[in-house]
Amino acid sequence: MEQEKIQQLTEEIKHLKKQRRAIILSHVYQRPEVQEAADFVGDSLELSRRAAETDADVIVFCGVHFMAESAAILSPDKIVLLPEKQAGCPMADMVDGPSLRARKQNMPGAVVVCYVNTSAEVKAESDLACTSANAVNVIKSLPEDQPVLFIPDKNLGDYVAKKSGRKNIRIWEGYCTTHEKLTRDDVLAAKREHPEAQVLVHPECRPDVVELADAVASTTGMLRYAGESPAEEFIVCTEKGILHQFNKRYPDKKFYPASEKLVCPNMKATTLEKVHRSLLTMEPQITVAPDIREKALRCLERMLAVK
Ligand code: 13P
Ligand code: SF4
Repeated sequence: MEQEKIQQLTEEIKHLKKQRRAIILSHVYQRPEVQEAADFVGDSLELSRRAAETDADVIVFCGVHFMAESAAILSPDKIVLLPEKQAGCPMADMVDGPSLRARKQNMPGAVVVCYVNTSAEVKAESDLACTSANAVNVIKSLPEDQPVLFIPDKNLGDYVAKKSGRKNIRIWEGYCTTHEKLTRDDVLAAKREHPEAQVLVHPECRPDVVELADAVASTTGMLRYAGESPAEEFIVCTEKGILHQFNKRYPDKKFYPASEKLVCPNMKATTLEKVHRSLLTMEPQITVAPDIREKALRCLERMLAVK
């Protein structure tokens, strides 16, 4: 988008935001101009926390559907807008209420830990949620011998099982269609090109990619690591939108995407025009039915209580 148009829309968004008493939350995978228009940019865990704490009347969620739903669950008295209603998450769609209920019947006594990348209906059927930032701590908060069903990300599940040392974890077969595209060969090629660079890997990547990491972390964890590390170059194994934050925060360091394939089309579906339109029309609103909300809230609150 042209710079002039971006400036004009950003100004109008600022004005509307005041009028509506709105806050704009953006995931780090969003388009740079959307991140720049936001009041807060972060990972899934930080965005959930902000949504729970804000005293704004309206939350404009620049992310995907499950994130806006979590905001609606945590802040039921607020209007939650998702500027592009079709922005979903293919991984979240890999488990639904009926398939989870059927699996639970075969695992009586298991605690269901759901990645936050799930629908409200699935959260309502789960015991506690986690994000990539706190998944290991969430699992460790459970008794050592507690059987766990971890849904839906098989890659995060594998990482968490290895890291926590827990043996009694059954893992769903879901995956992120964006991170799954990244292969070990892609990362090895990037390392050949940038031999001095450290490799930062998101745990949604395949286990043989995770093995190549200098650091495995959520998106915010990666940003923190790059700031604290004395290294000056980094190969980034997660969605490319995060490069905007890396370059903005650490202009003296170099960041390389591990592959040009690392683009989530759902995260890119939100544009500045759509953010503007949603504030003008107060649509599309995301709501959650009260009976589902009540159960899903327990699941999210249990997660937020884990240190
Ligand atoms: P985090 O924001 O928790 O790092 O997760 C990445 C992601 O894929 C969100 O959809
Ligand atoms: Fe879903 Fe992956 Fe896109 Fe995140 S990056 S929204 S997990 S498809």
